[in-house]
Amino acid sequence: MNVFQLVQDRFRQAIVKIDGVEQNAPAPLARSSRPEFGEYQFNGAMALAKMLKSNPRQIATQIVELVNLDDVAESLDIAGPGFINVKLKPEWLSEQVAASLTSESLGVEKEQAKTVVVDLSSPNLAKEMHVGHLRSTIIGDAVANVIEFLGHKVIRQNHMGDWGTQFGMLIAHLQDKLQASEVATTALSDLEDFYRQAKIRFDEEEGFADRARQYVVKLQGGDPECETLWKKFIDVSIQHSEEVYEKLNVNLKRSDIMGESAYNPMLPGVVADLKEQGIVVEDQGAQVVFLEELANKDGEPAVYIVEKSGGGYLYSTTDLAAMKYRSFDLNADRIIIFTDARQAFHFKQAELVGRKGGLIKDETSYEHGPFGMMLGQDGKPFKTRTGGTIKLVDLLDESVERAGKLLAERDSDLSAEEQQEVARKVGIGAIKYADLSKNRTTDYIFNWDTMLSFEGDTAPYLQYAYTRIKSIFRKSGVDAESLNADLKITEAQEKALAVKLLQFNEAILTVSVNSTPHVLCSYLYELSSSFMSFYEACPMLKEGVAEDVKLSRLAISLLTAKTLKKGLDLLGIETMERM
Ligand code: ARG
Repeated sequence: MNVFQLVQDRFRQAIVKIDGVEQNAPAPLARSSRPEFGEYQFNGAMALAKMLKSNPRQIATQIVELVNLDDVAESLDIAGPGFINVKLKPEWLSEQVAASLTSESLGVEKEQAKTVVVDLSSPNLAKEMHVGHLRSTIIGDAVANVIEFLGHKVIRQNHMGDWGTQFGMLIAHLQDKLQASEVATTALSDLEDFYRQAKIRFDEEEGFADRARQYVVKLQGGDPECETLWKKFIDVSIQHSEEVYEKLNVNLKRSDIMGESAYNPMLPGVVADLKEQGIVVEDQGAQVVFLEELANKDGEPAVYIVEKSGGGYLYSTTDLAAMKYRSFDLNADRIIIFTDARQAFHFKQAELVGRKGGLIKDETSYEHGPFGMMLGQDGKPFKTRTGGTIKLVDLLDESVERAGKLLAERDSDLSAEEQQEVARKVGIGAIKYADLSKNRTTDYIFNWDTMLSFEGDTAPYLQYAYTRIKSIFRKSGVDAESLNADLKITEAQEKALAVKLLQFNEAILTVSVNSTPHVLCSYLYELSSSFMSFYEACPMLKEGVAEDVKLSRLAISLLTAKTLKKGLDLLGIETMERM
C-alpha cells in the first residue's frame, strides 16, 4: 500500500471539486516531521487561495469538507495559514499491517512492467577490480534489485572494458609467459603485477612495443592466434571479477556481461547512421560531432569524437552502439548507467549525439547515475599505505577479518563455524552499507570503525535489530509462520512503527525513480530505531501482558523483521538468525 499516494489522490479528488480548480492542479503533500501533527500534511490550500483570490484557511476548511478520508484518517486539523494535518486511524493502520503481513511483496504495490537496462559494475579487464568499481557494482545492483521488486523487467548489462590498445601489450606478454610453459591462470593470478610487467617491457624492451602494436592491429582484424590469447586473458580476468561478485553477494552472472568488444561489429554502422543524419563532420582527419548546446564559456562547441583519424573507434563510439542496441534491440524504456561522476559530461554528450542521430527511441529515457569517490581518512583518494591502488578482494577480506575480531569480543553461543559465517555477513554488509547509505553523488570517507559499529546507521546495527526480533520469537514459543493475530494498535510507539512499516512502499518507489539506494538505507535505519522504541514501550513477553496484546505486538514485530530482511536483501546485504 502506498499511503502517500492514497492520501494525495484523495486530496486531488477533493480540490478539483472546488470551482475554478483545474483537473491537473498540483496536490502537494508532505510527511509530517512531528507525530503530534499526524503523519501527513496537505500544503495546497495556500496556493489555491492565491489563485482563487480567497482566504487560505477558508479554502482549507472547504477542502476538509470535500476530502473523503473517513476510512483512513481519524482527524484532519487545519493549522497555521492553512496546512491540513492528517492523523491516520489506528484501526485502518491495523488492517494495513495485517494485509502487508500476508502479502508476498510485504504490501508493496507492483507497477506496470517496463523494461529497464541497468549498466553496472563494468570494470576494466586489463587490471584488477579496484575500489572505484565497488560503487558501480553495489549501487547498480541495489537499484536493479529494487526496480525488479516493483515488477519491472531488468536487464543487467556489465559493460566490461575488454577492448582497447592496451590489450596488444598484454597478450604479447601473455604469449611469452605461455611459451615459457606457464599456464594462463598462474601467469594472470595477479593482474596488477602482470600489467606492470607488460608496461615495463613496453616502455623499455627493444621491439616489444612494436610487437604489441602489431597485435592490436591483428586483434582488430580478427587474427585467430591473437584472438585466442585475448580470450584467455579476458577469461581469467572475468574469473577475478566473479570472485569479487561472489564475495560481495551481488546478482551478476556471466550472461550479464556485454563487454565493449561485443559492440565492435556495430561501430561502423553507428558512424554511418550519424553520417546519414548529417551530424558528423571531419575534423583533422577524425570523424566528430560538434555540440553547440554544450559549448564552453568561450562559446566553443563540445567535440564528441566517434572515429579517430586513420580509423579506429573509441569508448564514445561504443557507448552510442550500446545505446542503440539497448533502445532498439532490448526495447528499453529506461537505460541507467552507473559510473563515477567524472564521466557525467561524456554521457551528456552521448545522449545528445544519440538523440540527434536517431540512435535512441524518443520514449527511451537515458540516465546517468553518477557517484562520488571513496576517500581515505586523509580525505584523498583511497590508496594503500605505499600509494598503490587497493584491490577490492583484499578490502573485502580485511573487513571480514575485522568483523570476526569484533564479534569474538561479544558474548555468543554460536559455534566457531557459525561465528565465521556471521563475520562474513557482517564484514561484507558493513562495507556495502557504508557505501550505499551515503547520497551517491557525494564523496565519502572510508572508516572501518564507524562502518563496523553495532550502534548508529550501520549494517551491523540493522542486522542486529533483525536477530533481536528473531530471538523474541524463539523466546515466545510462537511460530512466526502460523501466527494468526487480531491486530490492535493502541500505543503511540506502536502507531509510529505501523506508519513506518507502511512507508516501505514510498521508500522503494523513491529508490526506483531516482536510483538512490541511500533512501532505502535511511528508511531501514528509521524502521529499526522505531522498532527499538516500540520494544521499550510495548512489552510482549513480560508477565501480565494479555495474550491478544502479545500476539498483536508479535505480528507487528514480524512485519518489521520481514521488511528489514527484504530491504537488506534488496541492498544485497545478508541477514542471520542469531549473532
Ligand atoms: N569501464 C568503464 C570504467 O571503468 C565504465 C563503463 C561504464 N559503462 C558504459 N556504458 N560506459 O570507467
